[in-house]
Amino acid sequence: MSLLPELLLTVLFGTQASFTHPGVILPQKELLGDTELKNIVKKSQRSREARETLGYNPRVWRALTETLKSGNDQLIANKHHLLPKVWDLAILGRNLLAAKEKAQDLSAEEGFEAEIRRLLDICIEKAGKPIASDLEKPAHDKEMQIKSGYKKVLITALQFLNNLMTQNETRKLHVWLHMFGTPSSATPTASSTTTKSTTSKKAKGSSKPLPSSGSGVGLVGSTTGNSGGSHNETVAKCNSLSAGFNAKYYKPGFMTEIPRLLQPDEIEPLPMILQSGVVAFEGTDQAMQAVRCKLMLAQGYGRNLLREVLIFLGAWEVDEDDFCYRMMSQVIEAILINGLVPYAYECFRDEKDIVTPAQSVLLKLLVSVYRPSAPIVGTSSSDSQPSPLDPFSFHPLSAPSAVGGSTEQHEVAPPIENSIPAFFVGVFRKQVLPPTIKIIKLQGAIRKGQEKKESFEYSLWDLDRIYEGVYQFLELLVLFSEDEEAKKVLLAGDKGLVADLVEFLGELDSAIPRWVASKAPPPTASPIPATVKEIVEDSTTKVSKSYMVERPFDVHPENEGDGEEDEERLPIDLDDDEDDDGRDDERGLAEPEDFTWPHIKRYLVLLLSGFAWKNKAVQNLVREKEGLQPILNQCMIDDDNPYIREHAILCIKNMLEGNPQNQKIVEELDAVQTVPSEVLDKNGYEHFIDESGRVQLRKLPERKM
Ligand SMILES: *[C@@H]1O[C@H](CO)[C@@H](O)[C@H](O)[C@H]1NC(C)=O
Ligand SMILES: *[C@@H]1O[C@H](CO)[C@@H](O)[C@H](O)[C@H]1NC(C)=O
Repeated sequence: MSLLPELLLTVLFGTQASFTHPGVILPQKELLGDTELKNIVKKSQRSREARETLGYNPRVWRALTETLKSGNDQLIANKHHLLPKVWDLAILGRNLLAAKEKAQDLSAEEGFEAEIRRLLDICIEKAGKPIASDLEKPAHDKEMQIKSGYKKVLITALQFLNNLMTQNETRKLHVWLHMFGTPSSATPTASSTTTKSTTSKKAKGSSKPLPSSGSGVGLVGSTTGNSGGSHNETVAKCNSLSAGFNAKYYKPGFMTEIPRLLQPDEIEPLPMILQSGVVAFEGTDQAMQAVRCKLMLAQGYGRNLLREVLIFLGAWEVDEDDFCYRMMSQVIEAILINGLVPYAYECFRDEKDIVTPAQSVLLKLLVSVYRPSAPIVGTSSSDSQPSPLDPFSFHPLSAPSAVGGSTEQHEVAPPIENSIPAFFVGVFRKQVLPPTIKIIKLQGAIRKGQEKKESFEYSLWDLDRIYEGVYQFLELLVLFSEDEEAKKVLLAGDKGLVADLVEFLGELDSAIPRWVASKAPPPTASPIPATVKEIVEDSTTKVSKSYMVERPFDVHPENEGDGEEDEERLPIDLDDDEDDDGRDDERGLAEPEDFTWPHIKRYLVLLLSGFAWKNKAVQNLVREKEGLQPILNQCMIDDDNPYIREHAILCIKNMLEGNPQNQKIVEELDAVQTVPSEVLDKNGYEHFIDESGRVQLRKLPERKM
């Protein structure tokens, strides 16, 4: 083993010569050297002793640095065939870092770390380079192959960075400075204004006041999160830690492109780096984690990278159980705890979107933070995923074990501070609802022939983005409404959110027809016919009878759709002539103006239902705003809004309870349209909270009251 460093030095000498003086070494000898290098790489994966012997040897790091430097030069000169050798060097470096402290120090001191950063930059450039469109297939394939080679090296280089900074505050800070720039350096959207505001609702675009002081004092934001004395200390500490920063190949912002190059299973080290730099898990210096969190958001490059990662999660529809998703939800939690979520939301704003894709994902992650998924049981989290504190190496079993794992799902949700619902309700009412309602009104006008189709200037793609944002907002509002304190915030202010939601539902109700996917089963097949009542019999309403398809009232909805379960729908023949001109069986959503906003009505009913519960002011307000009729109209099957009928019945019950005026209105309506019997049946049903925390309705066992 003691000869291993000597062997490696010899091999590296040859490798470097093959970089700098191609052809000088005989091909067979060169091949032999490559094989030997690979053997050493393998040893470094398997044997801790090998990692320590090599990783604690300054000469090894020096030689590695020189060799990698020459290799990088060749790659810049497009000598792509040398990439495999460079990759071996990067893998070796990454593995040696698993020996931690001393190896980390040496790799930085000897400049290997700086070369890896340069390599990272090269990889990003080469992997991101567009391929000429006029290439013949073989040439095209070759290019693709080269790009994919660079991606692999890129991933290894990211793993290297992660291993480099593991458990070292200073180094984490240095990596941060490299990724996002030093606070005094100009960043793309930096502004020198100082502000304390974390809820700067008026701030526009991304060029807005930074949360940090932005002055020479440096890295510590002036926002919440630090209490007096420790703040001072942190500033001092931070500034002294940044002193040893190696600015060689300093190129902040170089990571921004990465999310566009990689796929979910490839990008893991990046969210992991972010997580390990900002999340205050055990064994970290929590003040420093907070500093880095603020630094990330204070710097334009940091915000850009964060935005790209969020867009990435959305674009790939990354699953909530996915490692990247979980890492990022912890990052968002850190941002939340540091009081910067509103600021982040504003940063991701963009003039042309009602809600940008990054904002939608931010909202979604926020919901996950407040409503942690069931703890991930047993094996999946720790076995298949690297723990953030575990250095990457190809052979996880031999890697040094982590000091306190941190992938365990945090099961305790942070409390909802009032400022958060207040902020998001404000945004929703001012920025989201008005333009959305405008679109829906236009859809309605087109359906009624009052406006020309051509006046609808949104594509389905536009609508999808808007829809995603509205949907995530409603998810978040539902979550807030389930929290007593947050609910008060939602209801605060005169005729605030409730009036807006009533208006929204009213517009949807009149502009967007309900949709029924399947014909009713034959009456005899109905399992609980007694509870079913035809809603519309002799219809005097605009809903034609043939449109209505009744099905058994499912009082035990097992699995409330989450909006994800849109399986293929069979075309059906609706036979209607009043409401649905122009719509036919296909329902291919081919025309943007036919967009149906699935699940939105249901969320609105759900929210109003919760607000009205034992709240006379809300009950009255809904009546005054003429909201009872639109809610009643939802007491019907609509496959765009699963279980909306049940929710609407519950909602009406909540509207009527103890409110004679509301009861009177509904009874009057009953004269012209039959109101579902459940609505008026005071005792037959009860609410319960299902597994996912949603309010549901179920029938009580029959009993005499
Ligand atoms: C952390 O990194 C710094 C240099 O950036 C180094 O001086 C120090 O020794 C490292 N600490 C540990 C515990 O490895
Ligand atoms: C805070 O910093 C200032 C100057 O940097 C120093 O004079 C002061 O004593 C510090 N206060 C505390 C509580 O450490």
